[in-house]
Amino acid sequence: MPEQTTIFSPRPRRRVQRMKEYHPPLGSRDALRLDFNENTLACSPKVREVLGRISTGDLTRYPEREPVEGLVAAHLGLMPAQVVLTNGVDEAIHVLFETFLEAGDEVLLPVPTYTMYEVYASSTDARVVAIQAAADLQFPFERLLAAISPRTKIIAIANPNSPSGSVATRSQLIELVRRAPQAVLLIDEAYFHFHGESVIDQLDALSNLVVARTFSKAYGLAGLRLGLLAGPVSLMQWIRRVLSPYSVNSLALACLPAALEDAAYLEWYVEEVVAARAEFEAVLDAAQIRRWPSHANFVLVDIGPRHAEFVQRMRTANVLVRDRSSDPGCDGCVRMTIGTRQQMRNAAAALSETMAALRAGNEAQ
Ligand SMILES: Cc1ncc(COP(=O)(O)O)c(C=O)c1O
Repeated sequence: MPEQTTIFSPRPRRRVQRMKEYHPPLGSRDALRLDFNENTLACSPKVREVLGRISTGDLTRYPEREPVEGLVAAHLGLMPAQVVLTNGVDEAIHVLFETFLEAGDEVLLPVPTYTMYEVYASSTDARVVAIQAAADLQFPFERLLAAISPRTKIIAIANPNSPSGSVATRSQLIELVRRAPQAVLLIDEAYFHFHGESVIDQLDALSNLVVARTFSKAYGLAGLRLGLLAGPVSLMQWIRRVLSPYSVNSLALACLPAALEDAAYLEWYVEEVVAARAEFEAVLDAAQIRRWPSHANFVLVDIGPRHAEFVQRMRTANVLVRDRSSDPGCDGCVRMTIGTRQQMRNAAAALSETMAALRAGNEAQ
């Protein structure tokens, strides 16, 4: 008999042992991608040109963030010390939580919302306090106010929110900042371009407000991983201590100025999506599919108990959509990204076939 050996495996922190791995359903995505709220078409052609000019020297050097941070800050009307670039907003959330959360702190999350807030909060020693939206999935302002306690350290709000597409008003957000002076209020404006309203102009006035923006959505650069945090210098100085100096890579830094400069491309894409959203919402209404009003580049629809079959049938029709039925308060729901008008006309055709197939299945039962 072979000799038995005991294998000792180091244990991670208890909080990590309790976490589940978050595995987004990426897989094979060679179809119309309406599943991850990306730009469904392309980034600016000016960004492609920059990529074509990347040299070996650019690749051998460590990336330098500061010069590009200065450009981004100027673009937003801020001082360079008020902005940090990050490896997507995901890294911004992670670093913010690592910087501020200690044992005994509370993170308030209005839910349903973006999954990664909970993932990153769970790996700290803080406690997550979820505040459930009502059935209309509107921003639960009053409930959130009531949940603020002396232990509240971070309040994370996606505005517009995902997967609901709902928004909080400026005055609600400003009121929250004032009512929780001991906490950092993170306003994640990943979908800002499709909504048009921001609180970034409040950064000088409110010392506990931090705003996140991404280049993954309207700009079409999800693969480059580029995001930012903007906030008062008094908070950003702590975040810079935790952030890796090299987490934003050279390709991303080289492309960012071109992406910012091509305002015409961004404007065109956003107008296209907003027009497509109105057209597609009308299609959903005509088909009597329940939906929530959206201020972003996606719409949440209520498919009911056969949501998984719906997602599968849409995939067979070459359209990828995202099952959100396990999000709190989203039973039976599916989220569909809005692309261009032509793409959404194709999606509408697939939707109509899929709904007919589901209805036929229902009748046969
Ligand atoms: C609200 C919200 N914030 C952040 C992100 C992620 O952004 P990034 O790609 O910059 O990490 C997403 C992506 O879906 C999102 O929905």
